[in-house]
Amino acid sequence: MDRKVGVVTGAGGDIGIAVCQELARRGVGVMCVDRTEDYAERAANAIRALGGIAETAIADVSIEGDVAGYASRCRDIWGEANFFLNLAGIEGAQAPLMSYPTDMWDRVMNVNLRSMFLGLKAMFPLLHHADTPRIVNMASTGGLTATPMLAAYGASKHAVIGLTKTAAIEFARYGIAVNALCPGPVEGTMMGRIQQGEGGQAYQRYETTTPQWRYGKPLEVAQLAAFLLLDCPMYMTGQAIGLDGGLTAA
Ligand SMILES: NC(=O)c1ccc[n+]([C@@H]2O[C@H](COP(=O)([O-])OP(=O)(O)OC[C@H]3O[C@@H](n4cnc5c(N)ncnc54)[C@H](O)[C@@H]3O)[C@@H](O)[C@H]2O)c1
Repeated sequence: MDRKVGVVTGAGGDIGIAVCQELARRGVGVMCVDRTEDYAERAANAIRALGGIAETAIADVSIEGDVAGYASRCRDIWGEANFFLNLAGIEGAQAPLMSYPTDMWDRVMNVNLRSMFLGLKAMFPLLHHADTPRIVNMASTGGLTATPMLAAYGASKHAVIGLTKTAAIEFARYGIAVNALCPGPVEGTMMGRIQQGEGGQAYQRYETTTPQWRYGKPLEVAQLAAFLLLDCPMYMTGQAIGLDGGLTAA
């Protein structure tokens, strides 16, 4: 195939749209996966507006049959995938650990972690024979440090980094690079919801403790994601890469 192609889950969110646009600017084809047609089409339209190639697939990424569905749609259309971005995620409830709802714990683990395990399994056969295949799993600085009030989120993102390391080692012999991307807080609706839920305390905890004194921008995440998906040396694998204005260095 002349052009590179791949899959982005959670494509219709704030970071997803920015990543899709960045990938469109790089001239690659993207299958935009999201839980509703509206979200998936939003991402696809953002790509097409830049003259890029987009396909859509509707999937709840925590459901195995749905994940198999987007992988087989990608195989039917393109036959393979050069890149795979496991991006879909939710922040879940904001509550102290002692009152954190158990059903929400399960939901966050399913959407943030099970989805990535299922996605890796379903997409491996498509990446296996492709040219320079690369996978990025979206973690967070919440996967590197504590996340008070977001216990399930932090635990899920720590686990994403663990899963990434195992996948990197198991897939190394097939020439597939697998890395985790760990942004700090990023401008957008997810941080908006977190700030609203904590009445300003989240701002105290994140923005004012970040050495650059600001949230990241979706474009900054998109630029690093595109590099990790398309350009990074294949020798770079199994890494958890921070993008956080110095948050985890402090
Ligand atoms: N926003 C931040 O500050 C930040 C920081 C670090 C990491 N991240 C991670 O980046 C990713 C994207 O975050 P965002 O800021 O774009 O959030 P967002 O809420 O704007 O977008 C999330 C996207 O995932 C989709 N999604 C949610 N549940 C799904 C499901 N079950 N099946 C399919 N799709 C589903 C949503 O529809 C949405 O399009 C998440 O994994 C998040 O944890 C975000």
